[in-house]
Amino acid sequence: MARILAVGIATIDIINRVSHYPAEDDEVRALSQKQVRGGNASNSLVVLSQLGHQCAWAGVLINEPDATVVEQDFDRHQIDYRSALRLNQGKMPTSYISVSEESGSRTIVHHRDCPELPFAHFKNLAVTDFDWIHFEGRNVEELGQMLHWLRQHYPGIPCSLEVEKPRAGIEDLFNLPDVLMFSRPYARSRGFDNAQALLKAQSAPGLMTCSWGEDGAWLRRGEAIMHSPAFPPARVVDTLGAGDTFNAGLISALVNDQTPKQALESACRLAGQKCGQHGFEHLSH
Ligand code: FRU
Repeated sequence: MARILAVGIATIDIINRVSHYPAEDDEVRALSQKQVRGGNASNSLVVLSQLGHQCAWAGVLINEPDATVVEQDFDRHQIDYRSALRLNQGKMPTSYISVSEESGSRTIVHHRDCPELPFAHFKNLAVTDFDWIHFEGRNVEELGQMLHWLRQHYPGIPCSLEVEKPRAGIEDLFNLPDVLMFSRPYARSRGFDNAQALLKAQSAPGLMTCSWGEDGAWLRRGEAIMHSPAFPPARVVDTLGAGDTFNAGLISALVNDQTPKQALESACRLAGQKCGQHGFEHLSH
């Protein structure tokens, strides 16, 4: 068991399950609808908590009725959110998501009117209470200050950074975390059409992974690059948060002292398991 802090957003996900992804200007009926807590870092925490870790979240909560969806789900998974920054203005970030029964794809329209967590708030957190700190790669300016400050004052606390989307200037931070988790959309946005090419092009000293959907994931450590296949379920029903689950599996395995190769495989297994079910309940190594 490790004590893990994740810094990122919590969202309201309004998920419509549809038989197939609609064409533009179509009108279709949802098979079902649910409103749940989402957001990359908080999804990863829900998985980490089920894997037996003690989890805490730092992000922004807006004082409005929708925040209770997030709070209740954190409570249910024993995730400590006392470090959240609470604001009176704005709205919880909301994602309108269509999950296709046909393919398992998830198409997201995201709306936000919510400030990012500032460094000024992060630096007052009791970071020494944690064995691992995970960051979502957003809000590069504040994130940069957090990572620099952590490296300068607490170099012994391992940290990871998820690089899911291209963000101006994020590359300047790659030397700071112990682990970098790249996504396929990020790799493609930088002009790479495969994970190895992205990983080979990096000069960061830390461990790096790049996940590639049905092709599995790759990990680079020093000059060595290793691969794990994907472990697809019999039927892919929901890929929403598969990457967040992969990140949780990787962190869990690394804090449990598994080798990078084992950690990569167990992250891929967990992500595969997730794709075979709706939501994040009952995921285990
Ligand atoms: C899935 C997810 C959703 C959220 C969206 C934010 O990875 O975290 O839960 O709405 O991405 O980009």
